[in-house]
Amino acid sequence: MIKEIVLETFLQESTPIYLGSKIWESVLPEKMNELKTDKYFLITDFNIMNIYGQTLYDFLSKNYPVELIVLPAGEVNKNNMTCNYLIEELFERNITKSSVLIAFGGGVIGNIVGLAAALIFRGIRFFHIPITFMSQTDSILSRKQAINSMSGKNMIGSYYTPLFNFVDTSFLLSEPERLVRGALVETIKNGLIFNRNFFYEMKERINKGLVFNEENLFDLVKISILSKLPIIKNDPSEKALGMILEYGHTTGHAIEKLLKGKYSHGECVSIGMIIAARISNKLGLLSHDEVEEHLDILQALGTPTKVPDVLNSETIMRRMELDNKKDIHGIRFVLLNEIGSCIEGPEQSYMVEVNPEIQKEAINDSF
Ligand SMILES: NC(=O)c1ccc[n+]([C@@H]2O[C@H](COP(=O)([O-])OP(=O)(O)OC[C@H]3O[C@@H](n4cnc5c(N)ncnc54)[C@H](O)[C@@H]3O)[C@@H](O)[C@H]2O)c1
Repeated sequence: MIKEIVLETFLQESTPIYLGSKIWESVLPEKMNELKTDKYFLITDFNIMNIYGQTLYDFLSKNYPVELIVLPAGEVNKNNMTCNYLIEELFERNITKSSVLIAFGGGVIGNIVGLAAALIFRGIRFFHIPITFMSQTDSILSRKQAINSMSGKNMIGSYYTPLFNFVDTSFLLSEPERLVRGALVETIKNGLIFNRNFFYEMKERINKGLVFNEENLFDLVKISILSKLPIIKNDPSEKALGMILEYGHTTGHAIEKLLKGKYSHGECVSIGMIIAARISNKLGLLSHDEVEEHLDILQALGTPTKVPDVLNSETIMRRMELDNKKDIHGIRFVLLNEIGSCIEGPEQSYMVEVNPEIQKEAINDSF
C-alpha cells in the first residue's frame, strides 16, 4: 500500500485528488462518509464489471445504499444513446437531487457520467474513481465533460466539476501496457507545451526503460498529474492558456475518428504531435532537431509516429473540418516555438491558423 496523499486540482474552489495505491478499501469509505446522500449510483462498463466492478459494488453495498448501472464499453459508445440510456435509467430508479453518481472506469465512463451529472436536475453531485492511466492523469484533470456526435469527437458537452477524484493506482496493474504507454503521450505533451525540464526528465526515464509495477505506476501517475496541474490552475476552463493542452489533438482527433478505435486516444495524439511539430518547423518556429526530439521520445515510448497507410491527407483534412476547435478563424493548431513553449495566437488563444498547403505537407511527411 502507498499512503494517500492529497493534491488540489484548482478546478473549482476545492476539488481534491485523493491519490494512493491499494487505498480504496481504507480511504474511500472515509471520503464517502463525509457526503450526505440518499443513494449512490455506481456506474461502470461491462469490461470493468468483470475485473473490479462486482468487487467494488459488493464492498460498497455492505455500508451504503448503492445501485449499479453497467454501460457498454469503449469510445464507440461515448455517444448520446449511452448518455440518454444512463439518464433515463437514473430517473427510472428514482434518482433525487441528493443522490451522488460514481464514475468508475476510464475516460469514456468519466465523460459520460460527468455530462449526465451536469444535465440531470441541471446538475447533481458526482465523483470519479478513474482506473485507466489516461483517466487518472488527464481526463479527470478537466472540467470538460463531453460525448461524441456522428460528426466528431467531443462535440456535445458541458463544463462540470466533480466533488473529488479518488485515484488508486493499483487499479492500473490490470490495464494493458499498450494503453498505459498511449496515455503517457499526454504526459510527454505537458512537457512539450509547458515545461522543458520535465520533457527531458521524461526522456531520460523512458530511455532507461519503463517498468509498470505498483511503485512505478504510482510515481508515473503522480508526476503526470503534477505536470498538468499548473496549466489548469492557470485556466480551469481551458479557454486561454489551457488551450495548449490541445497540442497534437487537431489531427489526432481526426485520425482517432477515422480509425474507429484501432488506435487509442493517446496513440492518435502521438501522431498528431508529430504533425503539429512538423507544421511548427515549416513555419520557421521549431528547429529540425526539436522535431527529431519528438520522434525520439515517442519511438522510445513505443507509440505510433506515422499516419497509418489506410488513411490519406485528403480524408484527414476533410475530417478536421469537423473539429470542435474550428471557429470563425478556421481549423486551428497549437504550435511550439521551442520545446516547453507554445506560440500565442490571436486574442491570447494559443490557437493558430495554418495555411492548408502546409497542413497537407506536414501530414504527407508523416506517412
Ligand atoms: N478533458 C477530458 O475530458 C479528456 C481528456 C483526455 C481524454 N479524454 C477522453 O477519455 C477517453 C479515453 O479514456 P481511456 O483511455 O481511459 O479509455 P476507456 O475509457 O475507453 O477505457 C479503456 C478500455 O479499457 C478497459 N479498462 C479500463 N480500465 C481498465 C483496467 N484498469 N484494467 C483493464 N481494463 C481496463 C475499459 O473497459 C475500456 O474498454 C476518450 O474518450 C477521450 O476523449 C477526455
